[in-house]
This record gives sequence, structure tokens and C-alpha cells, in this order.
Amino acid sequence: MAQFIVPKTMHHGLGSLEKLTELKGSKAVIVIGGGSVKRNGSLAQVQKYLSDASIESVVFSDVEADPSIETVIEGAKFMQTEKPDVIIGLGGCSAIDAAKAMWIYYEYPDSKLEELVELFAVKPLRNKAIFVAIPSTSGTGTEITGLSVITDREKGTKYPIVSYELTPDVAIIDATLSASMPKHITANTGLDALSHGVEAYVSNISERYSDSLAKGAIDLVFKNLPTVFENPDNLEVRQAMHDASCMAGMAFNNVWLGIIHSISHQIGGTFAIPHGCANAILMPNVIRFNSKSTDKYTDLAALVGKSTAEEFAQEVSNLRASVGVVASFKEYGISAKDWDAKLDLMAANAMKDPCTLFNPRKLELHEMKAIMQACYDGVAIEF
Ligand SMILES: NC(=O)c1ccc[n+]([C@@H]2O[C@H](COP(=O)([O-])OP(=O)(O)OC[C@H]3O[C@@H](n4cnc5c(N)ncnc54)[C@H](O)[C@@H]3O)[C@@H](O)[C@H]2O)c1
Ligand SMILES: [Zn+2]
Repeated sequence: MAQFIVPKTMHHGLGSLEKLTELKGSKAVIVIGGGSVKRNGSLAQVQKYLSDASIESVVFSDVEADPSIETVIEGAKFMQTEKPDVIIGLGGCSAIDAAKAMWIYYEYPDSKLEELVELFAVKPLRNKAIFVAIPSTSGTGTEITGLSVITDREKGTKYPIVSYELTPDVAIIDATLSASMPKHITANTGLDALSHGVEAYVSNISERYSDSLAKGAIDLVFKNLPTVFENPDNLEVRQAMHDASCMAGMAFNNVWLGIIHSISHQIGGTFAIPHGCANAILMPNVIRFNSKSTDKYTDLAALVGKSTAEEFAQEVSNLRASVGVVASFKEYGISAKDWDAKLDLMAANAMKDPCTLFNPRKLELHEMKAIMQACYDGVAIEF
């Protein structure tokens, strides 16, 4: 017996943003990042559709990449003043995740991050507002996940707030918003979607529903990421990547992720390396490590015309290279001195990350460190 959680309403396809005209509410706070949604015209479009639905809207802007708790509290205060009954996260996942966490603090102003990071600690939401998620990147699937990732810069770590309460009420998956992504963001976010599909597929609680969504997403990424990288204006291919991201999100929202994410939460928090880039560097070695405990990578190898886990790991490396993403943390530019100084702490924290619980192969601290070091050096692990 199992449950499978998805949002109440998902609109997908080119032009589906227009469905905002059917939204019910009186006032919306729209949370955005650094301004890409202003420049690509989607903020103006969202505000026009809200106005058509007789919903007043105000904007909270400048959410930084990998949002901090300080930004979340500032946004929640803005919401206390504006009193929205609709919260819209519009933009990259950083803006949407910040909006989700602001939603918690708006409904429960006395919330504390250290309590929220306990699994499923978020109290019932929707007393003051519903949540609409409109992604402009094609990677994280946050538009349908019960997850918000907040960064503590002082501690150099990322905290996932996990609760199905955070699953948006409405998700709009319209690739006209993602078409303006520059190549490196297209590549990093697309590889993040791939890592979600791969980790969900081999999760130790994977099941039929998540498997089919994960496999479908992986297939879409292999077929479309190199094409969209070369043809950024092809909206059909953009939509395929937007759908892949959402499908992989639906899969991992229900069966979780593994140690690729446990490690990248640490490396991202410590060295500010883009999330999808870190995952892509880690993926081949984690596949090699996990393949001693699961046969499921051979199914994924078959999707790309191969038969073994090692061949699948190679295909992931080839895909990464084809979209211009570096092969190691050393190549990314992290100095050996900085890496050595942080490795022990990052590995210890990665062991404690909730994603580690769902990895198909149990591991010891020394194995975690060895995987991380091999990915720093850019060599294949052999254990
Ligand atoms: N909530 C979840 O389910 C979940 C899952 C995985 C990762 N995460 C977290 O998500 C964050 C990464 O999110 P992301 O990959 O979406 O990146 P992001 O939101 O940090 O955005 C990256 C950059 O892309 C720009 N950008 C976004 N959309 C654009 C567009 N259409 N055109 C031009 N520029 C655009 C942004 O302004 C920003 O500079 C990390 O903090 C990661 O830990 C969350
Ligand atoms: Zn991810």
C-alpha cells in the first residue's frame, strides 16, 4: 500500500500560462528572483492574466540564487503587510523555493528553521493563501514537489524543508518562460532533471508509478537536452525539457533522492557551484558505487542503447560533456586547499542528509569521502 502525491491542478504546454485567467483570489504576491522574468516579459504577462482574473498583484523581487533564511523572513514580512490570498512563485527554483518558505512564515510567523527542517514538521498551510508555482528553469521540478531548499550561508549548508503541505496547489509548466535561459543554465538545470530521474529510479522505495515517470523523464532528457542546447529557440524541444523536469519531480517527490543530492547539498552550500553542475559531476561515480547493490541501472542503459551500469555512467558523462559542463570539482575551479579544508565536514553532513536514507547502497563515512574525492579529481571509482 502506498500513496502518490501530485498537485491539485497542473497546466502544461506552450501557452498554458493563460490558465491564470481562471484563478480564484483577490490579491497575489508574486515572488521573483533577479529579474530574468522581467526581461523575458513573463512577469508582465502574469500580471496581465491576473488582472483579467480580477486579482490585484504586487511583486517581491531580488530573491538570490540559493535563497537564504534572511530573504525568506523579509518576504514573509512583506506578505504580512500585503495580506495575499494567492502566493505565486515565478522564476527559477530559487525564487519558487523562497516563496514556499515565505508561505510557511506568512501563515506561522513564529516558525523556526531548525524546527522546519525536521521531516514533515510544517503545519497545515492554506489558512491564508494558496500557492501557484510557475517555473522558468527546466530542472528542479519544484512546481510539483513538497520541498523547499534554503541555504544557511554561515554554516555553508543547504537545508531541505520537506512536507507535502508545500506541494503547490497549481503548477503551470509552460516552456515559453524557459526559452530565455542562457546555454549554461539550460545545461545545468537539464542535468539536474536527469539526476532526479536517475536517483528516483534507483531509490530504495521506488515503485511502478515513480519508475515510469522517472524513466520517461530520463528518456526525454537524453533525447532533447543536446538539441535544446544547440537550438535554444526551439520551443517544442524546450517544452519537452520542461515536461521532463516536472515528470522527474513527480517521481522523486514520492520516492526521494539519493547521495548525489546529499553531496551536492553540501558542495553547493559551501562552494556555490550550480546545483545541476554538481549533480552532473557526481552522477557517474554514484552510479558506479550504487551498481553493486542494484541492477536497475541496466534498465536505464537500455534506454540509451547500452546494456551495463558502467556504459550508462559513460553515457551520462558524454551527455554532460556535450552540453559544456566540466568533469570534476577541480576543473570547476575549487582549489585543493579549500577542498581539503572542507571535505571532512561536507562528508559528515552528507551522511546526515535525509536523501542518504533512500540511496540504494548503504555507505560508511570513508566511502562517502572517497566518492567525493574521486569527483574532485575527475577519476572513476573502483569499489
Ligand atoms: N525544491 C525542489 O524540489 C528542489 C529540487 C532540486 C533543487 N532545488 C534547489 O533549487 C535551486 C536551483 O534552482 P534552479 O536550478 O532553478 O536555478 P535558480 O533559480 O537558482 O536560477 C539560476 C539562474 O538562472 C536565472 N534564470 C532563471 N530562469 C531564467 C530564464 N528563463 N532566463 C534567463 N535566466 C533565468 C536566475 O535569475 C538565476 O540567475 C538550488 O538551490 C537547489 O538546491 C530545489
Ligand atoms: Zn536536484
